[in-house]
Amino acid sequence: MTDLDQVRAETLNSISAASDVAALEQVRVTALGKKGGITALMRMLGDMGADERRVFGQQINAVKDEVAAALEARKIVLEAAALDQRLARERIDVTLPARPEAQGRIHPISQTVDEVVAIFGQMGFTVAEGPDIEDDFHNFTALNFPPEHPARLMHDTFFLPEKADGSRLLLRTHTSPVQVRTMLQQKPPIRVIIPGRTYRCDSDMTHTPMFHQVEGLVIDRTTNMGHLKGCLIEFVKTYFELDDVPVRFRPSFFPFTEPSAEVDIGCSRAGGELKIGAGADWLEILGCGMVHPNVLTNCGVDPNEYQGFAFGMGIERIAMLKYGIPDLRTFFESDLRWLRHYGFVPLDLPTLTGGLAR
Ligand code: PHE
Repeated sequence: MTDLDQVRAETLNSISAASDVAALEQVRVTALGKKGGITALMRMLGDMGADERRVFGQQINAVKDEVAAALEARKIVLEAAALDQRLARERIDVTLPARPEAQGRIHPISQTVDEVVAIFGQMGFTVAEGPDIEDDFHNFTALNFPPEHPARLMHDTFFLPEKADGSRLLLRTHTSPVQVRTMLQQKPPIRVIIPGRTYRCDSDMTHTPMFHQVEGLVIDRTTNMGHLKGCLIEFVKTYFELDDVPVRFRPSFFPFTEPSAEVDIGCSRAGGELKIGAGADWLEILGCGMVHPNVLTNCGVDPNEYQGFAFGMGIERIAMLKYGIPDLRTFFESDLRWLRHYGFVPLDLPTLTGGLAR
């Protein structure tokens, strides 16, 4: 066996034995590199006579080609195997639940807003929003508050520093200014639900300086108090997930509605435990009424053509009632243990068909 035959046999053996791309590269260098076996044989060509060189040159070139082809073929096989291995190793079953179990919880405020929006969404309402920082016009004047109304006083309202023209912006004291913004922006018929943060300079057991409300507004040609009652009774039953909740409309006053009412739901406090539903007691949950004609006029809606109703309720309050959360202030303490206990599993979005709360 000539040296060439031997180098050829060894190299082809090593090529089929190489178990990965790196080993294969090593084989290539050993045969064809500067100090490689085939390279060494090629150097011998220089010392040969013309005939011998021609014969040996052809032989050695044939071997080189054969080795190159074998290298290339083996490389394709090894690369495919490496890819298969990697795919197997990095395989992820996307149908498995996240592990370890998701740690985050949805805050009861967000959950309650989602539930309220799901219920009114089903009734054909769309969500509207407005800024937390308002001006006197949207928060008070357009809503028919007389200039001397007590709610405008420093006592209740957070005012921002006075501007050069003497006017002061404020933190909205309710979500009702978004009624004004909505009517100024869109033509009736209007059916909107307005969740958001509200602010009052008040802090004790049952009041926090920032809290949340949901406002509702419906404007159309024949919208009446019956619609208001039906809509709110339906909401209360769906929200509390009870077939029968006594609902009471009690006459009240707001500058921006006439007539106005506060809505109470039935409950029992037997044995010191609060239970929503039939019982001897009543609990106030929201304010409502027919939109005052002055408000319609202030917002560019003709009260001779259109009428409607509005309502507003405190999110914390209805969340506390439904989920048995005893203390308002805990909503804003960012205590993770509290959130783990009262919070909701992410991705379980409330729907009327799939269930509101799980
Ligand atoms: N804005 C009122 C409040 O904050 C609630 C309300 C809204 C009442 C709409 C009537 C109509 O108490």
